[in-house]
Amino acid sequence: MIFKKSGLLVLIFSVIAFVGAHAQQEDAAVVERRIEGLLEQMTLAEKAGQLTQFSDVGDVTGPASADASVQKKRELVKSGLVGSMLNVVGTENVRALQKIAVEESRLGIPAVFAFDVIHGHKTMFPIPLAEAASWDLDLIEQSARVAAVEASAQGLNWTFAPMVDISRDPRWGRVMEGAGEDPFLGAEIAIARVRGFQGDDLAAEDTIAATLKHFAAYGFAESGKDYNAADIGTVTLFNVVAPPFKAAIERAGALTVMNSFNTLNGIPATGDAYLQRDVLKGDWEFEGVVISDWGSGIEMIDHGFAADARDAARLAMNAGSDVDMESHVYAEYLPSLVESGEVALGDVDDAVRRVLRMKFKLGLFDDPYRYLDAARENASLMTPEHRVMARQMAEASIVLLKNEGGALPLGKGERIALIGALAADKDTPLGNWRGRAEAGSAISVKEAFAAAGVDFSYVEGAPVENGEASFPTEVQVNLTDRSGFDAAVAAARAADKVVLVLGEDAYQSGEGRSRANIGLPGVQDDLLKAVYAANPNVALVVMSGRPLVLTWADAHVPAIVQAWHLGHESGPAITDMLLGKVNPSGKLPMTFPRSEGQIPIYYNYLNTGRPGPRPEVFWSHYTDEENAPLYPFGHGLSYTAFEYGRLRVRDVDGGVEVSVRVQNSGGREGREVVQLYIRDRVASISRPVRELKGFEKISLKPGQRKTVRFKLTEEQLGFYDGRGAFRLEPGAYDVFVGGSSAAGLTASFELKSGR
Ligand code: NOJ
Repeated sequence: MIFKKSGLLVLIFSVIAFVGAHAQQEDAAVVERRIEGLLEQMTLAEKAGQLTQFSDVGDVTGPASADASVQKKRELVKSGLVGSMLNVVGTENVRALQKIAVEESRLGIPAVFAFDVIHGHKTMFPIPLAEAASWDLDLIEQSARVAAVEASAQGLNWTFAPMVDISRDPRWGRVMEGAGEDPFLGAEIAIARVRGFQGDDLAAEDTIAATLKHFAAYGFAESGKDYNAADIGTVTLFNVVAPPFKAAIERAGALTVMNSFNTLNGIPATGDAYLQRDVLKGDWEFEGVVISDWGSGIEMIDHGFAADARDAARLAMNAGSDVDMESHVYAEYLPSLVESGEVALGDVDDAVRRVLRMKFKLGLFDDPYRYLDAARENASLMTPEHRVMARQMAEASIVLLKNEGGALPLGKGERIALIGALAADKDTPLGNWRGRAEAGSAISVKEAFAAAGVDFSYVEGAPVENGEASFPTEVQVNLTDRSGFDAAVAAARAADKVVLVLGEDAYQSGEGRSRANIGLPGVQDDLLKAVYAANPNVALVVMSGRPLVLTWADAHVPAIVQAWHLGHESGPAITDMLLGKVNPSGKLPMTFPRSEGQIPIYYNYLNTGRPGPRPEVFWSHYTDEENAPLYPFGHGLSYTAFEYGRLRVRDVDGGVEVSVRVQNSGGREGREVVQLYIRDRVASISRPVRELKGFEKISLKPGQRKTVRFKLTEEQLGFYDGRGAFRLEPGAYDVFVGGSSAAGLTASFELKSGR
């Protein structure tokens, strides 16, 4: 009976699925017919218009164009010469322009409205690198979901996120915007973020299109200097840079991809046909829109790749860059380039189809005003629920780097000296890309200490910078003002313990914010030393958008907390963690170097032929620095302890299963990120000493244990060769399991056959 019933159910579901799929195909066919109908009516100028994206005037996120005026932009929209806009935010502003596009342009094609919604829109969540430190994919997806709800309520349909650039260089300021150094973790996080933004239905009024950026290798900017050339081999391209892009396209249906400012092996990404046509649209069958980065088309002139603006348009279109953001070259030159035969009409039509398809998917052809509900706008921004989620995310993102002798949590009744400008800073925790957050609206540590009833006194010690910092301007770091040191030293002396909050201003990381020296900026290092000399019971809380060099601190202060830029709920999250109400569970998504000279430093490096150590000098090392980082990838402590044991490996259908028993051997409940690494011992291409291939964040009560099982699929055991072809080679593999990339528990297995 049960069997019959379930058989019937299976039949019913199959019929529904079949009918559903059929209806979808029908819909897709109707959309394609409508697109062809529009294409037939469009002039070449209107086609170029669909491929043109303009920024709003004033609130720009790149170098402002000289000819920008509100009036001119309205005229262009009216003439059908602008397909999408960025930086126009709010239902009223969007409606004004959408009305012109739909009601005053000849074909009435709706515009798409884009914005950099990077780590929250109105409610700020932790910067993406911090969120990555949570290794909590559900929370990360939820964070992107909240951002989409708020952004879409403000009339937006498209975010330029997630940035999925892998980077091994903390000097590069944009590491704050990514998920760190690892392609496996990066891919899983990219998928979570895209799902959060796009949801199941892009036409729903609370979802927005995601953009994977920057294609490709922007995170490999030489010497960590933003916009710099990237020179990497194709093995690194396919095994390290590509995985998050590929995974988020294949497994999450990311709708758009942004190319990048940099040259890759000598060719500017925007003009790179191999990257965009052969790999992205060819091998990966990406059907969405490829957009340039801000002005990256016209910048090919400075790269010495395009002769002039017309040439830049030709090169970008021929290379498969569909939409021109703020270069203004497509609108100007595409029509004549098609007429002269330098650009194929078929390529332009293909790009326009992609853009129109996106507009259909977003539901804008059904109702161009669907995202423009003022009541929803008022009700959706910074709701109490969003704040709760921002708090959870912030708590999960904190990494306890060091905790000697149980220095943390702070004890009851201890008198605390809270020192550091960042402890009272209500702006820095909002991070670099703060959407529509109000400046200075985060809760500071100082405020949260007061609210929690901590017995403390606050002194600034030293300002981080002189004057106000902002998105487009340089931060003027305080290099001289030590006038507050004496008060800080006196407060430290009078206290049982010191909580010293030091680090970077929000605008010291992010776009155009490379740093050659990544220690504590300005006089803060001296402040740390002066305070420590007065009272060594220091808990150092580091706010930063990148790994900093904390070597002196690590050698001296008993406790170090990596608190990034955690968003609106920064203060309460840090305070609860310091007080022990929250047990830290974050793990580093990027290696922390001992000194800048070690950079690039990453855990998944290739062994040399002389790994050493050896008694003579003939091995791969520095004479004046250790090889090991200060804190390895995956590192992060808890107020409890976890023990790993019973590592087992067995063959299962379609791969290998690795299981491990983890026990909470400490005195309180905690969360642990169980990490699985492999090493392919011998292959046709030298493989990394370790590669992350699985992780699970588990929660255990004191004494509780759990067996965690990972399946290593063929996909995970193989790699890509220099031509981008997948290889699975038989042979011996080592596995390592533990709470960081330095995991000590190991086993091995043999893969009998490859493919
Ligand atoms: C330049 C940045 O590189 C890119 O990530 C961003 O989306 C655009 N500006 C638009 O603001």
